[in-house]
Amino acid sequence: MENIMEVQHLKKYFPVKGGFVSHTLGYVQAVDDISFTIKKGRVLGLVGESGCGKSTVGRTILGLTPATEGKILFEGEDIAGAKGEKQHEIRRKMQIVFQDPYSSLDPRMTVYDLISEGMVAQKMVDGRADLEEKVNELMLKCGLFPEQANRYPHQFSGGQRQRISIARALATRPEFVVCDEAVSALDVSIQAQIINLLKDMQEEMGLTYLFISHDLSIVRFISDDVAVMYLGQIVEMGTKAQIFDHPAHPYTQALLSAAPAFTKKEKREKKRILLEGDLPTPYNPPKGCRFAGRCPYAKPECQEVQELTELEDGHMVMCRRAQEEARRKGERI
Ligand SMILES: Nc1ncnc2c1ncn2[C@@H]1O[C@H](COP(=O)(O)OP(=O)(O)O)[C@@H](O)[C@H]1O
Ligand SMILES: [Mg+2]
Repeated sequence: MENIMEVQHLKKYFPVKGGFVSHTLGYVQAVDDISFTIKKGRVLGLVGESGCGKSTVGRTILGLTPATEGKILFEGEDIAGAKGEKQHEIRRKMQIVFQDPYSSLDPRMTVYDLISEGMVAQKMVDGRADLEEKVNELMLKCGLFPEQANRYPHQFSGGQRQRISIARALATRPEFVVCDEAVSALDVSIQAQIINLLKDMQEEMGLTYLFISHDLSIVRFISDDVAVMYLGQIVEMGTKAQIFDHPAHPYTQALLSAAPAFTKKEKREKKRILLEGDLPTPYNPPKGCRFAGRCPYAKPECQEVQELTELEDGHMVMCRRAQEEARRKGERI
């Protein structure tokens, strides 16, 4: 399977200015040297606490904000500085669905205009009748009724507005979609419907998703592969089974232990690992392992820089302390 998205050593730093003559005091290291690939047709879930840099990753790889360093290869080509026709093509092929459809949908545009805008800009329609047919078809697919086409976003419920956002994103027949907390603002009952719609569309259209969420159960439902972020870095990455059944990084273990248990067996087996301290800020973050200050296994050596290394079968982890500790105690992890 080919890699549709390849991110190499991506960094995104935001300067923090201050002082009398407004000089740069330091940098928020929102994304600090992360690399990953997504194979065509797969869903990579990107999970981590609020503020760890997930949205910045999504925005940077879509070219909505320039990278500070690193490479973003889409279908094998570097997209930095793409212009003219290339940029036009990338705009068609890559789309995003945001958390809050109310602020991302122009309130003065009707549903019809919102859905048709991209298709018209990309010259993908052959006259009015064709456009109307395509809009109708998309609305039906996304669980909306064509007779609602002349209404405005505020006349819809949150779940329906997210259906409009999805129809709008899929209208240009993209290849790659970033879903940034796409269901996080919805009621739980509606969440299930929208997540099913996203999954159905992904399967039907053979889409590739970068699925960003702070919610582990949602990531678990929709992803094939999972990357766990902590303070601007990926600390662990692997298939869904590797991450959820054999979490190796102390942070992933703590995150999973804080998620609710559903089955009796899960409840019985669940050990809660309480994290001490708060999430530090990515403004001048600690040297070496960024998680060390909250880690139950931290040792003085953790002050040294850590790198993501392979455990087995592509399962990547930044720290082996948890496994070493388990091995010492004779436990299997
Ligand atoms: N435009 C910006 N200017 C300065 N700092 C920013 C900007 N956007 C995001 N940040 C900071 O970068 C960090 C990561 O933010 P974000 O990517 O939104 O995290 P997440 O999506 O995981 O909640 C946060 O500390 C945030 O305050
Ligand atoms: Mg975010």
